[in-house]
Amino acid sequence: MKKTVRDAEVRGKTVIVRCDFNVPLDDDRNITDDIRITSAMPTINYLVENGAKVILMSHLGRPKGEPDMKYSLAPVAKRLEELLKQPVIFLSVPEVVNDQVREAAKKLKPGDVMLLENVRFRAEETKNGEAFSKELASLAELFVNDAFGTAHRAHSSTAGIASFIPGVSGFLIEKELEFLGNAVENPKRPFVAIMGGAKVSDKITVIENLLNKVDCLIIGGGMSYTFYKAMGYEIGTSILEADKLDLATHLMDLAKEKGVELLLPVDTVVAKEFKNDAEHFTCDSQAMPADCMGMDIGEKSMELFSGKIRDAATVIWNGPVGVFEMDTFAKGTEAIAKAMADCQGMTIIGGGDSAAAVKKFGLGDRMTHISTGGGASLEFLEGKELPGVAVLQDK
Ligand code: 3PG
Repeated sequence: MKKTVRDAEVRGKTVIVRCDFNVPLDDDRNITDDIRITSAMPTINYLVENGAKVILMSHLGRPKGEPDMKYSLAPVAKRLEELLKQPVIFLSVPEVVNDQVREAAKKLKPGDVMLLENVRFRAEETKNGEAFSKELASLAELFVNDAFGTAHRAHSSTAGIASFIPGVSGFLIEKELEFLGNAVENPKRPFVAIMGGAKVSDKITVIENLLNKVDCLIIGGGMSYTFYKAMGYEIGTSILEADKLDLATHLMDLAKEKGVELLLPVDTVVAKEFKNDAEHFTCDSQAMPADCMGMDIGEKSMELFSGKIRDAATVIWNGPVGVFEMDTFAKGTEAIAKAMADCQGMTIIGGGDSAAAVKKFGLGDRMTHISTGGGASLEFLEGKELPGVAVLQDK
């Protein structure tokens, strides 16, 4: 168990908090989904209410290790002011930390909040450069990591900084570890996992790890075609990872060996072209026409998968089961989201696309937990220790 802000003395102390404010922006740089900011508020509010001098830091996007104002955290500063109902000191300096920032940090009073510019404006950040870690650490007395979405990165602001000042977790990381950790380690059964998305290669280790834990594994989406190909069936022009056929066979054998029920779609919605208004029809998953590609799961698969999900005591879902960005081919993914919403058990959504899907269908508030981390939740489900968590102090 890692220490949290509750275990640290914060009153009167300068506390630097790593958040994941990597939020989506539209062309006018308006934030289109602020869940990552609102999810960090419990920690920020706690620190403000308990008299800490608060310095926030985050990355946004992937600037190439140099300042690029397109990725400035200015829109985040504005949103934070609205949520906090108090001014946020934001010094948009390309160096992230300089004399001006150091001066401002020294002048902070208990309850003040300051936001640094995008830490990825510095090339050292993603290399976990020691000098930059030290610069960040020199601003504060305590490090709080609350950036679950970036906890799988060993960067200066997520990991390196903890070599110079003590590090504890914020409430978001605590909550994410509790939900994801409990679901995987002490699941109420039946425990069902749904893995979707385009590539098997992205999910190999997760699937291998989950096969040791779940009672039923449902595989949908683009990667299911590689499994069908591995069994010798025609998959037409569907997405295929030809170099992963043996691996797909290995995963199917492993499921058998472990006594895990592995379900693949029984029917598939296919089209000749990859577009929303393409002509489409449903066929048996084991008899796909040679000139068509799989776009979504069919009605029978929706029924089969939904039944398993509704009866589960614990469900984890990561990855859409069809091309859900196109409305015509979003029905399968919507059926999964609805079944999860109807499930009386614990329902957990890995971040990324499945979280976006659940929101798109307006079912977000009917899930037990939606992770704020895409890559991070996957790495956690792989059984890996996240570097941004590993560096924090143990209780
Ligand atoms: C994410 O959006 O998954 C996190 O913010 C991490 O971003 P990154 O993949 O650019 O490190």
